[in-house]
Order: sequence, then structure tokens, then C-alpha cells
Amino acid sequence: MLYLLDTANLEAIKHCNEYYPLSGVTTNPSIISAENTDFWELVTGIRKIIGDEKMLHVQTTQKTAAAIVKEAKLLKERIGGNFYVKIPIGEEGIKATMELKKLGIGVTVTAIFTPAQALIAAKAGADFVAPYVNRLDNIIGDGCDVAAEIVSQLKIFGYDCKVLVASFKNAEQVHKCASVGCHSVTVSAGILKTVISHPMTDAAIQGFDRDWAAIYGDKTIMEL
Ligand code: G3P
Repeated sequence: MLYLLDTANLEAIKHCNEYYPLSGVTTNPSIISAENTDFWELVTGIRKIIGDEKMLHVQTTQKTAAAIVKEAKLLKERIGGNFYVKIPIGEEGIKATMELKKLGIGVTVTAIFTPAQALIAAKAGADFVAPYVNRLDNIIGDGCDVAAEIVSQLKIFGYDCKVLVASFKNAEQVHKCASVGCHSVTVSAGILKTVISHPMTDAAIQGFDRDWAAIYGDKTIMEL
């Protein structure tokens, strides 16, 4: 399982890169715009924080295959490292995906809402497909079920393409996607924290601290 952070907020990226086993960062035009700052400083700033080995997925804003390919080359050249261009599914995006594969540029086909969209993206050569779980759940579309079907179809047809599930609003969605074998998730810093949290864990730690203090006071193991 790969955990990616779905934000362009440098403070959140710094924090999560230090505290979690992150495999990379994903962005989209909404996420970038939320930071309301210089685009190139922001994306190269993310690269500086996570280093060259971790994945950085940045979405194109172009609408034709030719322009998507041109923009992808520029993004890869200026951002460097382990880079993936995110391309929304559509005719131009599929054409661009096929061309970018020939050029050896990583592609994540995004804004996926059906297994059929994912399958064609995989056939075109996408490295990742990104279904939007919570947006499907919001319309009673069962996002995790769609993600599960995508995993199963990619396996049946033997595609190397990975499922990078996006759009999460709670830890249960992350858990369900992991249960059906999704390869990777991209989540907010808040969801990451929720995933590792549990009130019973807090209670257990309080019990350990209380029992220790009853015998050893405020002394740590290293002070004994
Ligand atoms: O990258 C796609 C993802 O960020 C969408 O999430 O929360 O806008 O549905 P959301």
C-alpha cells in the first residue's frame, strides 16, 4: 500500500513527510489554487521537501493532446525527480497518455468514476488511475465498490496500472479501499492522522503512563 498526501500546503507536506511513510504528493488545480501563490515556487518547493525519489503528481490544465504533452514535458523538466502528470480522462487525455508513454513520462489518469474509464486509461498506458471515492459516495455511487471493480478488472486483464484512490472524507473509506486491494491512496493530512488514531489507543497509553508513574514517578527508563 502506498500513502500519498493530497495537498500543496508546504507545512502539511513537511509535517507528514517527517511523520508518515509517505510515497509522494498529489495535487490538482483546486489544491494548487487553494495555496494562492506562485505555481512554480510551490511545485518545486514540494519537490525540495519530499526529495527526488518520492512521487510528485501534478495535473495539467491543458485541453488538447498536443498541449497536454507539451505541458507535461515542461512540468517534468522543471519539477524533476519521480514525476507523474495527472490527466483527466477524456479523448484528448487518452491520446496524450499514449504519446507520453512513448516519451517515458509517468501518467496518472484522474477524475475516474467508472471501471470502464479506468480500463481504457490502463490500456492507453496509464501508470495510475485515480477514482474519486467520496464524490461517488456523495451520490450514493459506492466509491469503494467502484475502486474494487477497477482493481479486479486490471488484474483480470493483466495491466500493470495501479489504482491511486482519491477523494476521501473519512478513515472508513480508506480502510474499505485497502480491504479490496487498492494499491495506493492519496489523502489529506487530517485523514492520515485519523487513520492512525483510536480512542482505545489513547486509553491504553493513559493506562501505561498511570501504572508507570505509580511506581517510578516521573523517571524515564533512561534515567533508571
Ligand atoms: O485529486 C483528487 C481529489 O483531490 C479530489 O478530492 O476532496 O476534492 O473530492 P475531493
